[in-house]
Amino acid sequence: MAANNKENQQRRLKTLERVFSKAGLGSRTEARSWIGAGRVRVNGKIVQTPDHWVDLDNDRVTLDGKPIRDAAKRYLLLYKPKGFLTTYRDPAGRPTVYDLLEGIDTFLSPVGRLDLDTSGLLIMTNDTDFVERVTNPDHEVAKTYRIKTSGSLSEEQLQKLRDGVTLVDGPTRPARVERLRDSENRTWLEITITEGRNRQVRRMIEAMGSKVSKLVRTAIGPIQIDSLAIGKWRELTKEEIEALGGVVPRPPRTDRGRGGPEPAPQPQTKG
Ligand code: URA
Repeated sequence: MAANNKENQQRRLKTLERVFSKAGLGSRTEARSWIGAGRVRVNGKIVQTPDHWVDLDNDRVTLDGKPIRDAAKRYLLLYKPKGFLTTYRDPAGRPTVYDLLEGIDTFLSPVGRLDLDTSGLLIMTNDTDFVERVTNPDHEVAKTYRIKTSGSLSEEQLQKLRDGVTLVDGPTRPARVERLRDSENRTWLEITITEGRNRQVRRMIEAMGSKVSKLVRTAIGPIQIDSLAIGKWRELTKEEIEALGGVVPRPPRTDRGRGGPEPAPQPQTKG
């Protein structure tokens, strides 16, 4: 019990810069610039240190005099096209996934990254606990990819991919690997892994002496890309959010921990 209380207390402490991304107001870079410019106050006093600790239950944080509030949790499923970076801003001006989220006024973070040349399912959310839950390899959330290789892969090579291959950052975990079809010098595969190391699928295929010529993420856990059009997004359904342990959205609180009543939970309809 005492340990639980301690853990809860720790969970409610955030650095000032994280308070803004958690509330869905902006990126940490933006938060640092607001803090540096003296626009942020904690309990009435200007604080210009981004790593100042804030107690979310007791401290009052304002930006330009306005209290910041928890944004309602949002979970979007985006079909990322090839050629878009999974980053907020690119110094070289290349398109990013944020260019595809016009009209979304809450700052959302990607749940794991996809390479520039990878397309497919990308979840974007302002629920930082959800990001951690889905991306932490200890939780073994399955990620499924469709792959086209340049060069054919033998049954023996597929078995190696299933058993685990040794990469520079260690052996990969057992994976589910299914051959979908072959043509001259090409193999189409579906592979499901429970880790998310940098360029992992490409490196696994390269370890087999082949190369990925097309990579599409089709599912995360039970969530499928299905018929979503490339470059488009939709909200996750209540069932999808719950399946990955997210918080079904409800209206934002009107004030943060200042003793005001919590709004009543929204009635949720099934289906
Ligand atoms: N594995 C890769 O190699 N690239 C991705 O984008 C995702 C998984």
